[in-house]
Amino acid sequence: MRLPEQVMRLGIVVGGIAAIVLLLRFVLLPDTLFSAKPHQAATVVREMEKPLHHAGVAACRECHAEQFDLKYGGKHRNIGCENCHGPAAAHAAKPEAETSMPPLPREREKCLACHAYDSSRPNGFPQVDPQEHRPRKKCVSCHDPHDPVPDEAPEDCAACHGRIEQTKALSTHALLPCASCHAVDERHLTEPRLALPSKPDSREVCGRCHAAGSTDPDASKAVVDLESHGGTYVCWECHYAHLPEGRK
Ligand code: HEC
Ligand code: HEC
Ligand code: HEC
Ligand code: HEC
Ligand code: HEC
Ligand code: HEC
Ligand code: HEC
Ligand code: HEC
Repeated sequence: MRLPEQVMRLGIVVGGIAAIVLLLRFVLLPDTLFSAKPHQAATVVREMEKPLHHAGVAACRECHAEQFDLKYGGKHRNIGCENCHGPAAAHAAKPEAETSMPPLPREREKCLACHAYDSSRPNGFPQVDPQEHRPRKKCVSCHDPHDPVPDEAPEDCAACHGRIEQTKALSTHALLPCASCHAVDERHLTEPRLALPSKPDSREVCGRCHAAGSTDPDASKAVVDLESHGGTYVCWECHYAHLPEGRK
């Protein structure tokens, strides 16, 4: 049986289109248009060819057991050496080479990258306010970077209240010790939040030195009438105690 003429022609056209599609798919167009696999394979090869920059903590431990042990026993346990010292594969491979000696990151900024106060950090992560926490001094002058919890409690309030100390130092209250207005428990110096110092709670605290006829050895020449001056408000409603001459 012969097919009708129209069916033959249609067959030739359909066959032609199919041939073009197959030619495009398998011969003319590259495989990468149809599958991610060649991309992945090429990327793996490309990345594998890159030189390694980091050696990893295990390598550092081989030669720097002292620093490793110190760090492992302290709060920086989980911070890799190269987080602070930078990539050191070249150094680990050839430690005597001066050119690849890892830097010693002593600048404040290096520590503050992780410890400067930032509300987006996880709850409880130890953070400091760089303006308050011993401004300008190098962190490593008090903290061993490999075991950062300091051995000794600070002796002065300025270690943690730097800004208040600086403000007061330039005020008329410069010569008053912090203790003339705050009673401080020893424990406050090591575990500040567990033992908060007292704060003045009445006009009489200031009146001790500023009321007429005061017999306090530190009494001020600047005297006010405690009964009337400033109404019934507490004094620090108008005078900042750490800079009292600058009225709010
Ligand atoms: C094959 C031994 C070896 C390996 C591995 C090694 N180091 Fe060293 N490293 C040395 C030697 C040797 C010195 C120079 C003497 C010294 O100061 O202790 C040195 C010095 C250093 C210094 C001090 C530079 C200075 O100026 O005082 C740092 C920091 C350091 N290495 C970090 C690392 C880190 C991080 C690693 C791991 C990635 C590492 N090292 C791996 C042997 C090694
Ligand atoms: C938190 C950052 C930090 C980490 C983590 C760290 N270091 Fe250090 N490292 C420092 C700083 C800062 C100094 C410089 C200290 C100084 O001069 O007072 C230093 C000094 C060194 C020195 C010089 C000698 C010394 O002890 O002062 C070596 C060696 C060293 N580090 C190796 C290591 C190795 C090995 C590790 C990992 C086990 C490591 N460090 C982890 C910050 C870090
Ligand atoms: C890569 C981030 C990182 C860097 C850089 C870093 N630290 Fe830390 N630090 C941490 C982590 C993480 C802890 C542990 C926090 C915890 O125990 O919850 C920590 C803990 C501490 C603690 C203990 C706080 C406490 O009492 O619990 C001190 C102090 C400290 N770091 C000081 C420093 C100093 C000083 C430097 C610079 C030499 C520094 N850190 C650099 C991440 C970092
Ligand atoms: C003059 C000494 C001194 C210097 C300089 C200093 N610190 Fe401290 N820092 C201390 C002492 C002491 C403590 C312990 C008291 C405490 O637990 O709050 C402390 C506590 C900390 C804590 C723990 C805070 C907490 O809430 O648990 C961190 C983090 C810290 N310091 C980071 C730093 C960083 C970062 C620098 C540099 C920018 C720095 N320190 C500079 C003395 C110092
Ligand atoms: C080791 C760090 C540190 C030292 C040293 C330190 N403080 Fe504090 N102080 C703190 C912290 C942390 C707080 C709590 C701040 C907060 O809750 O915002 C605080 C709070 C205070 C408060 C406010 C209490 C309150 O109820 O709001 C006073 C007052 C105070 N300290 C006085 C002092 C005096 C005076 C000294 C010196 C004898 C001193 N502090 C030494 C860390 C310290
Ligand atoms: C003349 C008295 C006086 C002296 C001296 C003084 N304070 Fe205060 N302090 C106050 C008063 C008043 C307040 C505010 C109380 C309130 O708001 O309830 C205060 C508040 C504080 C607070 C709470 C935070 C704030 O800023 O309100 C801290 C921390 C503090 N003082 C630390 C210190 C330190 C550290 C010193 C020594 C450098 C010091 N004070 C010296 C009277 C004093
Ligand atoms: C232990 C004594 C003492 C206490 C307590 C004290 N002061 Fe003073 N105050 C002084 C001295 C001393 C001066 C310096 C003025 C002078 O030369 O006599 C001064 C100065 C001042 C001045 C500036 C006076 C001027 O000449 O402009 C003000 C305002 C002041 N204090 C307010 C306060 C307030 C508010 C409190 C309570 C939070 C307070 N004082 C607590 C001793 C004290
Ligand atoms: C309502 C605000 C206010 C309150 C509250 C207040 N003061 Fe004043 N104080 C002032 C003003 C304003 C001045 C400056 C004008 C003046 O000399 O009367 C001043 C001046 C002073 C002076 C300087 C006087 C002089 O001779 O130079 C002292 C000291 C002083 N106050 C202490 C205190 C004490 C102590 C308290 C709490 C018992 C207090 N003040 C409460 C607003 C206040």
